[in-house]
Amino acid sequence: MWHPDPFIKHPVPSTQPPTAQEAARSRWFSPLRAGRLELAERTWVPAMVPWRASDDGLVTPEVLAWYERFARGQPGALVVEATGIRDIPSGPLLRIGDDRFIPGLAELVRTVRRASGGRTRLFIQLIDFLRIRRRPEPERYFREFLVLTDRHRALLPGTDGAIRETLARLPETEWPRFLDERELESLRFGERERVTDMELPRIRELPRVLPELFARAAARAGQAGFDGVELHFAHAYTMASFLSALNDRDDGYDGYGGRRADRVRLPLEVHGAVRAAVSDRFVVGCRFLGEECIPGGNTAGDAAWFGAEFARAGMDYLSLSRGGKFEDAKQPRVGWARYPYTGPSGYECMPTVRSDERGPFGRNAEATRAVRDAVRAAGRRTPVVLSGGISTFEQAERLLREGVADIIASARQSLADPDWFRKLRLGLGDEVRRCVFTNYCEGLDQVHKQVTCKLWDHLDLDGDDAPRTADGRRRLVAPAWEPASR
Ligand SMILES: Cc1cc2nc3c(=O)[nH]c(=O)nc-3n(C[C@H](O)[C@H](O)[C@H](O)COP(=O)(O)O)c2cc1C
Ligand code: SF4
Repeated sequence: MWHPDPFIKHPVPSTQPPTAQEAARSRWFSPLRAGRLELAERTWVPAMVPWRASDDGLVTPEVLAWYERFARGQPGALVVEATGIRDIPSGPLLRIGDDRFIPGLAELVRTVRRASGGRTRLFIQLIDFLRIRRRPEPERYFREFLVLTDRHRALLPGTDGAIRETLARLPETEWPRFLDERELESLRFGERERVTDMELPRIRELPRVLPELFARAAARAGQAGFDGVELHFAHAYTMASFLSALNDRDDGYDGYGGRRADRVRLPLEVHGAVRAAVSDRFVVGCRFLGEECIPGGNTAGDAAWFGAEFARAGMDYLSLSRGGKFEDAKQPRVGWARYPYTGPSGYECMPTVRSDERGPFGRNAEATRAVRDAVRAAGRRTPVVLSGGISTFEQAERLLREGVADIIASARQSLADPDWFRKLRLGLGDEVRRCVFTNYCEGLDQVHKQVTCKLWDHLDLDGDDAPRTADGRRRLVAPAWEPASR
């Protein structure tokens, strides 16, 4: 896992948890009413992929157990993991690209309603991603994947077959003589499609097909009973790539790349199509990046500009994340695909205690404040959600009091202790299991293993019937908790 070098090891912030009365008077535990978004409190669990869906993208008992466990902590809102809007195989990631996914998702909605006593609003994150191939064996790349062009033929004599054989036997130092930058990247990292690959019809057509794909997925989410959808416009995926300052796609007049106004066009069209496909009460929010944290990428200024546009378009909430891009991801091992959380921008997305002088706690606050200020300057009250390294009541209260955000989200601290919001609300904050921000969970995510927390996955393995990993060595949900006095 990448970290700044040299690094400063930051302690987890100390905390003086509130009494039940202090929590009741706090902003974080106060209700929010902002247009369609109504929350019992301003606590929020953002999307986390736990690698528990079936290989066909269906909800499994393990998916239900995962969300039930978060719902017992009764956050104001819970966002279901990035869920694919297309009906294409994508491993054990949830999908919503066909009506056959609705019954499983409806069961998930019922499970969360039951476990939270109806207190938690439930949203589902809708994602589209482009094709990415695993890093190939060099010989295989030259023999099968490399598309031979006249440039290769001009550089090397013989038939195409002979050229491939010559290339396959070259030492690595010779590769740059015969391959262009993109080919070298595909060889070293695995091929990755971009929204700027206009020579590919499926890429050219994205603006034509995506609004409807998102709209149909959102309609299915409505049928399954969700309170709303979160459009995934963040990290390394298709919609974030349209927003990115690196998007220089040329569709001609009124296109989808280049200036901010053009980069935001498709996200706005997606939002418009989704809004038109769901009921008036249904919440439609989005998650996007406060900063892309890559050279030449979007800054907080870009995010503020996009935020105001989203708010003007009538988006129901704006949730800010940070980084998590392919551009600076680490080279994967042969046979593995690039993963967007392995480089410096990945660090910004899920920072650990091995940090720089800024530390890992609240790194996205400045950019989030810029977005919220721009939204307010545009005359909109659209609620803004902040996440990134929040693990104490005091941090959350301060950020709300200072007007940085309207809602404070917490992913890893909620994974470490899914009951933590409830414990704080009950004045039992001393019982919170504190996240140590060393990213054991993210390490599992990276190798596509079922995500658990190191603070509880080996606890009480013989003591209850909570689901386990196939080898029986890790429990898949945190042990149950109930206040002693009840
Ligand atoms: C295991 C894991 C899976 C994640 N999956 C998603 C995801 O599906 N969609 C998303 O927008 N963010 C995802 N994230 C990022 C989190 O939502 C959050 O932005 C990030 O962890 C920083 O917040 P934190 O410091 O409170 O953990 C994931 C994070 C983790 C640790
Ligand atoms: S494994 Fe647990 S303690 Fe470690 S970072 Fe993840 S949630 Fe926090």
